[in-house]
Amino acid sequence: NSIKIFSPATVANVACGFDILGFALDHPGDEIQVRLKDAPGITVLNQTKDTVFPADVNKNTAVVSLQAYLAHLGSEQGFEIIFTKKIKPGSGIGSSSASAAASVFAVNELLGNPLSKENLVQFAMQGEKAACGVAHADNVAPALLGGFVLVRSYSPLDIISIPYPAELYCTIIHPQIEVKTEDARKILRQGISLKDAVKQWGNVGGLIAGLMKGDYALIGRSLEDAIIEPIRSILIPGYDAVKEAALKAGALGCCISGSGPSMFALSRSQEEANQIASAMKKAFTRYEIDNIDYVSKV
Ligand code: HSE
Repeated sequence: NSIKIFSPATVANVACGFDILGFALDHPGDEIQVRLKDAPGITVLNQTKDTVFPADVNKNTAVVSLQAYLAHLGSEQGFEIIFTKKIKPGSGIGSSSASAAASVFAVNELLGNPLSKENLVQFAMQGEKAACGVAHADNVAPALLGGFVLVRSYSPLDIISIPYPAELYCTIIHPQIEVKTEDARKILRQGISLKDAVKQWGNVGGLIAGLMKGDYALIGRSLEDAIIEPIRSILIPGYDAVKEAALKAGALGCCISGSGPSMFALSRSQEEANQIASAMKKAFTRYEIDNIDYVSKV
């Protein structure tokens, strides 16, 4: 009648794949417990000290996702969701997505798995829509499926898990500034040049091929973003210097994680990932911005 699960942080976009690529981290992640209730309706309990939840429970991404899932099943069952969040909201590593993915995953388990994990993505996306206005799947899909995920198409939804090298590490640096996904989407240009598009889809193909072949050099060459990074990086003070520090310290590539402000860098070993974290943190100190770092296996 009760289940406790871990829901991982995720890195969306992965440089060249705006709204279509994402991967899950080993940590950090949220802990979520879900209990069956006798009465209908969804109640939420927050056990996280420094995270404020929306006062209106219907704006909570976990609740919105779960309501969409239950409506699909035609179920009136009530649930209580207890959150212990470790992923800071507004960090750019999929905090709202972890909650959205967790609620539908946990309830699907409690109900005996009527739907596949792939089929849960569409409901978790409704939580994203409530959080930032757009039902993007590049955080919730990797949170639900793990590993690297490609959203080949939104309509119809087509989610593909991508094989990747066993040894792949991610460094995350979270500068303590706030960037709301909704705002970071509003500043994007709606049109792109054919030249930029050619560059971008070359890199998307290159990244997928590099991951599948375990070709680290190809992965590194493909971690480029001609379209989004030039605009969003302006929101992160010291971005260019921190990225340069990551690359000098041996990162395969470095870019904005999701809509920021976190930055991610990929590397081949835990040792390299730790060195990259130190180099990026050092570069940030020049800009007097406090930051938190995470090193995780992908
Ligand atoms: N693809 C989304 C964006 C991810 O970049 O706006 C948000 O985490």
